Amino acid sequence: MEIKKVVVIGSGTMGSGIAAHLCNANVPVTLLDLTTEISEKARERIKKSRPPLLIDKSKIDNIDVGNISDNFNVVSEADWVVEAVVERIDIKHNIYEKIFKERKAGSIISSNTSSIPISILSEKLSAEDKKDFCITHFFNPVRYMDLLEIVKSENNDLNKIDSLKKFCEISLGKGAIVCNDTPGFLGNRIGVFAMQVAMTEAFKMKMSIEEADAVFGRPMGIPKTGVFGLYDLIGIDLMADVLKSFIKELPKSDEFQEVAKEIPLVKKLIETGYTGRKGKGGFYRMNKIENKKILEAINLETGEYHPTQKINIKSNKVDLKALINRDDKYGEYAWSVISKIINYASSLVPGITDEFNDIDEAMRLGFNWSKGPFEMLEEIGVSNFFSRFKNYEGNKFLENLSKTKNEKFHGIRQKYTDIETLGKVKKTASNIDGNSSASIYRFNDYNIVEFTTKANALDYDSMDALKKATDKPLIIINESMQFSAGVNLSYTMEFANKGDFKSIEKFVGYFQETCKHLKYSDHPVVSAPSGLTLGGGFEVMVQSNFVASHTNIVVGLVETIVGLIPAGGGCKEMLARWLDTEEAKNDPHYAPLKVFDIIGYGKTATSPVEAEPMKYLKPEDKKIMNRNSLLEVSKEILNNNKDFKAPLESEFKLPGKVVKEEMNKILEKLYNDKVIFDHGLLVAQELAHVLSGGDTSIDKTLSEDDLYKLELDAFMKLIETKETQDRIKHTLATGKPLIN
Ligand code: NAI
Repeated sequence: MEIKKVVVIGSGTMGSGIAAHLCNANVPVTLLDLTTEISEKARERIKKSRPPLLIDKSKIDNIDVGNISDNFNVVSEADWVVEAVVERIDIKHNIYEKIFKERKAGSIISSNTSSIPISILSEKLSAEDKKDFCITHFFNPVRYMDLLEIVKSENNDLNKIDSLKKFCEISLGKGAIVCNDTPGFLGNRIGVFAMQVAMTEAFKMKMSIEEADAVFGRPMGIPKTGVFGLYDLIGIDLMADVLKSFIKELPKSDEFQEVAKEIPLVKKLIETGYTGRKGKGGFYRMNKIENKKILEAINLETGEYHPTQKINIKSNKVDLKALINRDDKYGEYAWSVISKIINYASSLVPGITDEFNDIDEAMRLGFNWSKGPFEMLEEIGVSNFFSRFKNYEGNKFLENLSKTKNEKFHGIRQKYTDIETLGKVKKTASNIDGNSSASIYRFNDYNIVEFTTKANALDYDSMDALKKATDKPLIIINESMQFSAGVNLSYTMEFANKGDFKSIEKFVGYFQETCKHLKYSDHPVVSAPSGLTLGGGFEVMVQSNFVASHTNIVVGLVETIVGLIPAGGGCKEMLARWLDTEEAKNDPHYAPLKVFDIIGYGKTATSPVEAEPMKYLKPEDKKIMNRNSLLEVSKEILNNNKDFKAPLESEFKLPGKVVKEEMNKILEKLYNDKVIFDHGLLVAQELAHVLSGGDTSIDKTLSEDDLYKLELDAFMKLIETKETQDRIKHTLATGKPLIN
């Protein structure tokens, strides 16, 4: 069955997200709602969405809109109809009656419900119609959340479910996991249970919300919003509805019931409009005191707010064993939460899915956990777990495991897909090498480097691993959300605070040496970015010989924002790309001015479609919808380049002083118009110096090393200023730029 045309009914948050993503996949789609006005508004929302739901905004008109009274005939031409109307069974039943009367024979009909079982959704359908009906549960925002749960029933035509899965995997790029018809399916059943455990244990153990979030967050491989932060983000009222639905759908004996009970403080928050970020605030709130914004946290016992306290549990890496063995309340809390999650998740196998592995992957894809409950168990160690956890009677999975004590019970990862993913391949490496900032997975004919720091910020060790791994063809790729947010600014500031600028110079020099090495070593290097690919992360990517990019990237050189200029070859590479244009051949000022504009403003692109016109990506770079496929595509690139020869070094002819004067004129105007201030001016002047080629003229030739030197000198000048250090400190503390 081929899916060539799709109709989405219901143009709210989910329907519009699904339609936008079908548009991303170049699949013709019509979006219907009660009135055409509502669906037109949805199209407007898609256009304005941040982060953008569309990869290419100019394609917005490929989404047709209409209403369910006048335009329902489009259903007769669709191969797939997705229902995404409000979560009300009467409304959904009415829609299905209309759809099944109108639909093309053999087409697939699915619901995006988050909580209603197929058995109830399809109770009024004929046996024949039930074959073609399933649930496709997308997550919000659809473009960015990789998880798609396809829920099947015993009535389904499994071939059809399989072809829908393939379509969603290949064309839409989703991690599509097929599961059984049970309440909350996989992701929400475990994810919401985990949130409830983390919350109820915090109440029980009298932890502050800052403390709970500091543990149930990065140290556990869970996004830093933790539990209370995530509650505020989702909406406390929405979470209450979700819990009500679980209470209703799950048997009384299910352990979920215990943690889903209404909490008086939560009830009060909802009643008083404290529904989270969309309301007046929630567990956290922003308060204005004497014209200053102060982030406050609620006291779980008194319900009073106080300024948030920074909790540093001194855990830089996910190390579950160390975390649960801590001899303090954080260790106790972590163990209590983790052991309960492992116990609950394992008690549901095989009921909710035959593969326990699918639960881990659903938590990764749908909740951005770095490890699911079964991998957590594997990391803690089976014997270690059972030495502390005794109460698992009736849990078949744990009973079995307690007998076999098989430490390697987990086996291969990502069983839900046939794609040769990084997760699967990593486990088969012949040797694992590396350091605390990056892992090197060694295979017979190639290496993989995966960065492992927070946001994959780069430091000396990251460079060391890259350099070391170029002894074979190399793929730079990772499973965490970001390819790399750039050079580790905290690391840089540690030296700056001590006035140790020599060490910074040495680090930047090593960064340059490594990037040069990536570009010119005897073996090909492929970068496979996804997520943030900024600053130093971009410089690693751009100096790799090949690129296989996920369509969800945020790419750019943003150094000027923190008062620096790109010094790992970013200026040099952007110049080389822009010098290689027809316009630059006719006008020597063209390339430096273009790059000045892009780097000066710290411009970023949120997709390959936006990245190409800025030359952050090249037309020949591969662009891939399914993140899981990045490794296969990268390996294919290596295979096709067995006779790889390192490129010739670039040479640069730049106008020097004459173009710098032109740049300075631009700056003068920006300064007079108060668009930039004193330090902004200085940073841009340094950038102008580098991009003009410094003390050169158009008849002279500069080498790559000359440009590296210009970059380094300008970088060092800037990092030594108090104003740049102020910018960096401010950004590290607030995540926001300082304009000085
Ligand atoms: P929403 O409230 O944003 O949008 C619902 C849309 O359905 C509205 O535009 C409404 O006008 C339209 N509608 C209502 N009755 C209709 C009818 N008879 N015919 C056509 N359109 C009709 O809802 P949202 O959040 O997009 O949810 C849609 C479905 O997706 C629900 O089943 C929900 O449980 C599920 N879901 C929601 C998620 C979320 O994060 N919001 C996540 C996953 C699933």
